[in-house]
Amino acid sequence: MLRILTTRLPTRLKPHPMALKKDKPLFCGNITSQERTFNDAASTPETHSRILPAIKHDHLEILSHSQKILTSTNPDEQTRFQNQFTWELARHIIGEELVVYPALIASLSDGQQAADRNRLEHQGIKEKLKIFQDLASTDPRFVPTLRGLMDDFGIHARHEEDVELPRLEGMLSKDESVELTKSLDRTKVFVPSRSHPNAPVKPPFESVAGLITAPIDSVADLFRRWPHEKKG
Ligand SMILES: [Fe+2]
Ligand SMILES: [Fe+2]
Repeated sequence: MLRILTTRLPTRLKPHPMALKKDKPLFCGNITSQERTFNDAASTPETHSRILPAIKHDHLEILSHSQKILTSTNPDEQTRFQNQFTWELARHIIGEELVVYPALIASLSDGQQAADRNRLEHQGIKEKLKIFQDLASTDPRFVPTLRGLMDDFGIHARHEEDVELPRLEGMLSKDESVELTKSLDRTKVFVPSRSHPNAPVKPPFESVAGLITAPIDSVADLFRRWPHEKKG
């Protein structure tokens, strides 16, 4: 199998320069800022795309949600966006841990180290997310907490986009990559909202805290038992 890169990955990365410019995207995926929107349709992943553009799409959606919070001056609106942002980020993190990181482990020579480091970074993001989701939008800590969370997430996401996922793509056939994206899409069942009005039964988690604090093995068990709406 082709080995694209076998050097040890750096454990600390510098923030992306764009992370310092609050009005610019943190990430430089192939989806332009003009394509970023904030509605349910845009939140639906591109189920037939390869895994790298699908993850970039998720990252841009999360960034878009955070920007909606930061640019709004209406506390009620900020709270609604806060809820959606929290779920989107939580399910992205869990989806990667269930679907993408196992693929890293299976495909890359240093995949286990990469997955371990990513899970460690996720742990820090989850802890900040737990703090953020409980803050009232009128709390003076609300905006600084979100900015700190997005700074961490930006560094982490940039590394996924620029280093690990391109390496993973290099090891996968197109069909394998598309299958991975479809599997990631199925993790959307963890969102208990109107995003899944046709879900046959209640989603397995009612709260973000329940989802992100659950041991990943038990989340995986639930996910395997969940009645997938459609396989395609
Ligand atoms: Fe991640
Ligand atoms: Fe990610």
